Amino acid sequence: MTAASADRAGTAAAGAHDLSAFPGLARGLDLAVLRAIAAGVHAAAGPGPWTAEGVADAFAAADRHRWIPGHWIAALADEGMLTAQGSAHRLTAPPRRRDLAGVRRDLDRARAGLGYPPELSAFLLRTLRELPRLLRDEVSLQALFFPGGDTAVAEAVYRDNPLSRYLNAAAADAARHVRPADPSGLRVLELGAGIGATTADLLPVLDGRTAEYRFTDLSPFFLDLARDRFPQPYLRYEVLDFATDLPGQEGPFDLVVAANTAHNAPHVPRLLGQVADLLAPDGRLLLIETCHEPHQSLTSMPFLLSGRTPRQDLRAGTERTYLTRHEWCEALHTAGLRVLLDLPHPTEPLDALAQRLLLAAR
Ligand SMILES: C[S@@+](CC[C@H](N)C(=O)[O-])C[C@H]1O[C@@H](n2cnc3c(N)ncnc32)[C@H](O)[C@@H]1O
Repeated sequence: MTAASADRAGTAAAGAHDLSAFPGLARGLDLAVLRAIAAGVHAAAGPGPWTAEGVADAFAAADRHRWIPGHWIAALADEGMLTAQGSAHRLTAPPRRRDLAGVRRDLDRARAGLGYPPELSAFLLRTLRELPRLLRDEVSLQALFFPGGDTAVAEAVYRDNPLSRYLNAAAADAARHVRPADPSGLRVLELGAGIGATTADLLPVLDGRTAEYRFTDLSPFFLDLARDRFPQPYLRYEVLDFATDLPGQEGPFDLVVAANTAHNAPHVPRLLGQVADLLAPDGRLLLIETCHEPHQSLTSMPFLLSGRTPRQDLRAGTERTYLTRHEWCEALHTAGLRVLLDLPHPTEPLDALAQRLLLAAR
């Protein structure tokens, strides 16, 4: 296994897209969402000056979500869309009706250029429309992400786009080279497996040499979906909360997979240390992770963060969801794990999208 072969597999799977346009398109998507948030706050709280408390009051935000308007204000101020006025902020340029029509157009154009299906724009527009009810806790983010139990938005976000295709195919290339500690076959543990967006790429390269693939998640909803989707006889489905349940698990595992989920751990270095303890001597940890919060997530991720166990690691006391690339590598190192793969290369256009594949060994 080499970085070059994983990168080649990923690039081939990403498909024929003009990747060089991706950084600009990702930025366009982020700014479109931010402009729409500004318009939503303007509609609820007027032209300002805005304070985090005042905007939370204007929306009648539920207690657990009251921090979110302040998080938006910080992002808007960072981008120069707000001007400081004492301890408050005022919109640098109030939104005009014609700008709002432009937001929808820009958002969908960027979405299409980045190769995401239309479900992504529909979801983002749905969250933007529902911001007041989300803040008041009258509708859950999960209900908007999985409307009526439908997984099409999740497929769009975690599978059916060039970035996910790149990461999942590179992950499969890495998994192809994992060797079993026991001749009966590989033992694999997947954490927070969700809709199985990464699992679906891994299983074809594990078929025929895997004794056990434990597909686990906090939510039984995903296990039921996976039972239908992945009928392979070596799969086991299990509710497992990786924030609490790992120390009791019976290792060793040749491969532990955590795709877009490890950031949910209240203490990432502790999680990685517990995973390291479960790995066979030649075992591998495969992580797919985000390394900064893109503005396009500002209408979704904060609502998932509200009310969770407070972060106890280097994110404690901050509003951060993710670790940076450097922090992920440091946390792996602290857990006694060596980084073997860290893709995409920082010089590649896909790097601008802030999601990475990290493969580590004991
Ligand atoms: C963004 S989704 C992951 C996507 C998934 N890996 C996929 O490819 O479809 C995050 C998943 O992590 C799960 N999760 C969050 N916190 C968890 C925890 N403490 N223990 C186990 N699973 C968790 C959620 O239920 C959800 O399915």
